[in-house]
Amino acid sequence: MSTAEKTFSKGLEGVIAAQTEMSFINGTEGILEYVGIAIGDLASKSSFEETVFLLWNKRLPTKPELEQFTADLRSHYTLCDEMVTQIKSCPIKAEPMHVIRSMISMCAMYDENPNENSVEAARHKSMRILAVAPAIVAAFDRHRRGLEIVKADPSLNFASNFLYMLNGEKPTDAMVRAFDICMITHADHGLNNSTFAARVVISTLSDLYSAMTAAIGSLRGPLHGGANEGVMKMLNKIDSVETAEAHVMGMIKNKERIMGFGHRVYKAKDPRASELMTLAKQLAEDTGNMDLYNKSHAIEKIMEREYASKGIYPNVDFYSATTYHCIGLKLDLFTPMFVLARIAGWAGHVIEQLEDNRLFRPTTDYIGPHNAPYTPIEKR
Ligand code: ACO
Repeated sequence: MSTAEKTFSKGLEGVIAAQTEMSFINGTEGILEYVGIAIGDLASKSSFEETVFLLWNKRLPTKPELEQFTADLRSHYTLCDEMVTQIKSCPIKAEPMHVIRSMISMCAMYDENPNENSVEAARHKSMRILAVAPAIVAAFDRHRRGLEIVKADPSLNFASNFLYMLNGEKPTDAMVRAFDICMITHADHGLNNSTFAARVVISTLSDLYSAMTAAIGSLRGPLHGGANEGVMKMLNKIDSVETAEAHVMGMIKNKERIMGFGHRVYKAKDPRASELMTLAKQLAEDTGNMDLYNKSHAIEKIMEREYASKGIYPNVDFYSATTYHCIGLKLDLFTPMFVLARIAGWAGHVIEQLEDNRLFRPTTDYIGPHNAPYTPIEKR
């Protein structure tokens, strides 16, 4: 057996490829902590802004530190005129994920030193990207609906400002808090595929914008963050709780993957799914969407019966679909919501990579022929 065969792990399963001080996952017991704090505690007690400070500084802020951090973030909420013009030039049929990926890439062109990779510069750039990303999504959605773009309001927190820019009216406290919890629960998650993509790109000492762009491209895949849209599409195909059983069993029979279930690391229920299930139920009650919640819950029960023995449980994307629907978001904005939150994690990982960089360069196990003859083209 060659060395390559001995170390080959398809999909890099079980391979430790980086160290982090941000999130800890115990997939067997279904535990997730950010810097040692349980995700449930953060979801119920923290804010997205405080959580980002925690991830980027590896400790909770004092009150003045949080005020300063929040003020810095708010000072970068507003899109420059050139970016607004670029967003308005996007085809209205474009998918929001393609728009946000392209616009974050474009941010590099409005940065005087896009390639500056000191940790301090990376922190500053990360703050700007985190602050402006909601404005990009909201502006494009309003543009495609033929509505005036709403300017950011720096008196509002991250969650409230996004919903305000999207809908043109101040959201209720309940909606703001629900959205804030979504942002907290999606902020970071170890070396998931998109975070790995970001770390791989920055490890060449490329630039933060390229790393973020690669990460967004990764996230939109249906096996990763794009699954939340897949969940909603499945829910839309199921008429009622009564028909959920036949629909899901039909999918299983056809060997289709049930979106929102299964995870490379969790072999128990994803703790984020537990948080979002509680949130989805409350929101569904408040917004008259109990049918949707009940369908989701019925699917979870069917999947538990069919798949729990294989370690396949709901992941973060399953109840986020119901949650986002109840918040009033259109289906193709679900994955962009994941982007808004996960920028925090990608940025934190890029900074960790820059602090102790080594180029990522795995190897392949070559399984093709050797000493093959070169046949002239006229003889093939
Ligand atoms: N529905 C049905 N079967 C599944 C599912 C699912 N959702 N997930 C895994 N399986 C089955 C596979 O068919 C396979 O069965 P087999 O051994 O009989 O062939 C087995 O479980 C292992 O599947 P793998 O794809 O090898 O497992 P992996 O660890 O690579 O999968 C993944 C993780 C990609 C997330 C998978 O569970 C999946 O496709 N889920 C649906 C998509 C989804 O919800 N993605 C979001 C994940 S969370 C996130 O990224 C934010």
